[in-house]
Amino acid sequence: MKKLFICGLFSLLFIMQTNAQTKQVPVYLDESKPIESRIEDALSRMTLEEKIAMIHAQSKFSTPGVPRLGIPEIWMSDGPHGVRMEIDWDTWAHAGWTNDSCTAFPALTCLAATFNPEMSALYGNAVGEEARFRKKDILLGPGVNIYRTPMNGRNFEYFGEDPFLTSKMVVPYIKGVQQNGVSACLKHFALNNQEFERTTIDVEVSDRALYEIYLTAFKAGVEEGKVWTVMGSYNKYRGQYCSHHERLVNDILKGEWAYDGVLVTDWGSAHDTREAALYGLDVEMGTWTNGLTWGESFAYNNYYLAQPYLKMLKNGELPMSTLDEKVRRVLRLNFRTNMDRNRPFGSFATAEHAQVSRKIAEEGIVLLKNTNNFFPIAKDRYKKIVIIGENATRSLTVGGGSSELKVKKEVSPLEGLISKYGEDKVFYTMGYGSGPTVYDKFMPSPYDADSLRKEALELVKGADVVLFFGGLNKNFQQDCEGADRITYDLPFGQNELIQDLLKVNKNMGVIIVSGNGVSMPWLDQVPALMQSWYLGSEAGSATANIISGEVNPSGKLPFSIQKKLDDNGAISFGAISYPGQDGKQVYKEDILVGYRWHDTKNIPALFPFGYGLSYTTFEYGKASTDKKEYGKNDVIKVSLTLTNKGKADGAESVQVYASQNKPSVMRPAKELKGFRKVFLKAGESKTVEIAVPVKDLAFFDDKAHEWTVEADKFTLHCAASSADVKTSVTVEVK
Ligand code: BGC
Repeated sequence: MKKLFICGLFSLLFIMQTNAQTKQVPVYLDESKPIESRIEDALSRMTLEEKIAMIHAQSKFSTPGVPRLGIPEIWMSDGPHGVRMEIDWDTWAHAGWTNDSCTAFPALTCLAATFNPEMSALYGNAVGEEARFRKKDILLGPGVNIYRTPMNGRNFEYFGEDPFLTSKMVVPYIKGVQQNGVSACLKHFALNNQEFERTTIDVEVSDRALYEIYLTAFKAGVEEGKVWTVMGSYNKYRGQYCSHHERLVNDILKGEWAYDGVLVTDWGSAHDTREAALYGLDVEMGTWTNGLTWGESFAYNNYYLAQPYLKMLKNGELPMSTLDEKVRRVLRLNFRTNMDRNRPFGSFATAEHAQVSRKIAEEGIVLLKNTNNFFPIAKDRYKKIVIIGENATRSLTVGGGSSELKVKKEVSPLEGLISKYGEDKVFYTMGYGSGPTVYDKFMPSPYDADSLRKEALELVKGADVVLFFGGLNKNFQQDCEGADRITYDLPFGQNELIQDLLKVNKNMGVIIVSGNGVSMPWLDQVPALMQSWYLGSEAGSATANIISGEVNPSGKLPFSIQKKLDDNGAISFGAISYPGQDGKQVYKEDILVGYRWHDTKNIPALFPFGYGLSYTTFEYGKASTDKKEYGKNDVIKVSLTLTNKGKADGAESVQVYASQNKPSVMRPAKELKGFRKVFLKAGESKTVEIAVPVKDLAFFDDKAHEWTVEADKFTLHCAASSADVKTSVTVEVK
């Protein structure tokens, strides 16, 4: 009996082995073959209908792949600050899963404020691991639109006003995500710099500003970050929708930059089958506009790149080559992500990710004012610490639109401060209150403003110190997708409240939580001020560590904060420039965005780009360069000695700005061309070297359509902010 069994087993194994030997692995599944051959093989096996299915949505966040060939579905999720909760198959409702509570990482404004590309790498990897664990193939972020005005509802999702800083910070984020076999998605391409009329506004901008300001970070993401997915924007540029834009997509993205990945729509940003077919759109998601299928369920077959495209291909109105090109790109994405058997498995909501989130939050908080060492507040310094303000307790990972998150943990500032100083020392009352978060609606506050105010005025009376936590809150029109802010002032009566509180207790520090600058009419009267951000899961622990001095603040502003709204370049030109008139807008400030405007026009900012204090002080030695003259392909090495003169360990982001001596065209007074964050122990000195490639000193010559470096003298300013040059050195480019 036993013999018979062993015999049977051997024959079975023999048959299995022979089958395996005779079964041919098709080229597209053969991992020893180059990806491009696998793409061609897969393409050759697909029917016309299968190809069409692959290039548009089958649900709110997925495309179907090719089930017959085992080519997987592609699953996407927002982005960019964590992996969004699951959404219903065919509605925008939260699906109610119980396994999708993620780590919330700080908003990208905070990441930018770290001025530390190493933080971007950590961030990208951690959020990539979370996306991978959640079986997402594309993470819908990061966004690299430019902070053109402080009114844009989505600035908190971007890296601020400077294209160089944005580029240097976005590249490691992309690489970090993609090393997990998950595609990052660079958005929103392009010129989506406001939410007001975002689906229709028609932008006019000079080529010079387009290339020097608005496309720079996209280019870096494509060429250096090697991003696998780019998302088109909702708006128009020169009369054509950006998601199927002949110039932006065909000429620039896929032409000049040789992008080989997928261009996906924003959700519902396609408008025309012919343009989508011809002008480089690869995947259509989320369409519901233009009377096509507004609100209709399961309308996917009606998408511009679905039945209407199939029909036009069949009757010869559009060439098949347009379809094959899109399918190739989608297959390339498959091979890079879910058909890569070697990709890691990811991890989710781990203690390590919480640490990463906290570290970035700590490095991003910006100390803006600190009279008489108001901060840090050591543990035993005060007996009664009074905290006022809704943002000390409100969840700020919800709201904001598509970047909303459902989190495993969110430590509020109040919780962080209580665990730092103890329950017996910390007292809290709201002071002001806002309404609940609803995506596209203003909701009134359910609280009685007067009683909140009275309670706060009472509580601060006997306080040793007061900390006011205010700002915006990701409600509709308060840093949220879909609408811009309606005022530069703080909402919910905060300005009045701050003034009233100061009358009772002058020892008050203000912590603004926002993704945008706000007016600060009380600034002269407050001894201390911090710019904080939507900090994510570890908001409270990071904030408490900074306030207590356990961590020395080292964030620098990634945007200029204007004294008054009119001091902003874009806004100073009136409605045609921002927010637009009759559906059109012209970027009248041209290349003079942010500090470029303030510096060149001599309009000082309230707080300049790149500004941020520390609990210690840094001394800048004299700057020097490795040579005096450079050729156009050289790299200038700028160096100086930086010394920590104070008693606390700390970090300083040394910034290098360049000015050209006698340019043949108008150039901004100075432009950021390098930065380095340097950590120094108390009393320590280090030589800091920053490399500036001469090619980075170019301007975009729009007549010749090329980047030009002129033979001229250039001064390199080593600075602690865009308005605080410490030492300069002049070199000659031959
Ligand atoms: C947003 C995108 C987002 C998409 C999917 C759109 O409304 O503009 O940034 O990725 O929705 O949620």
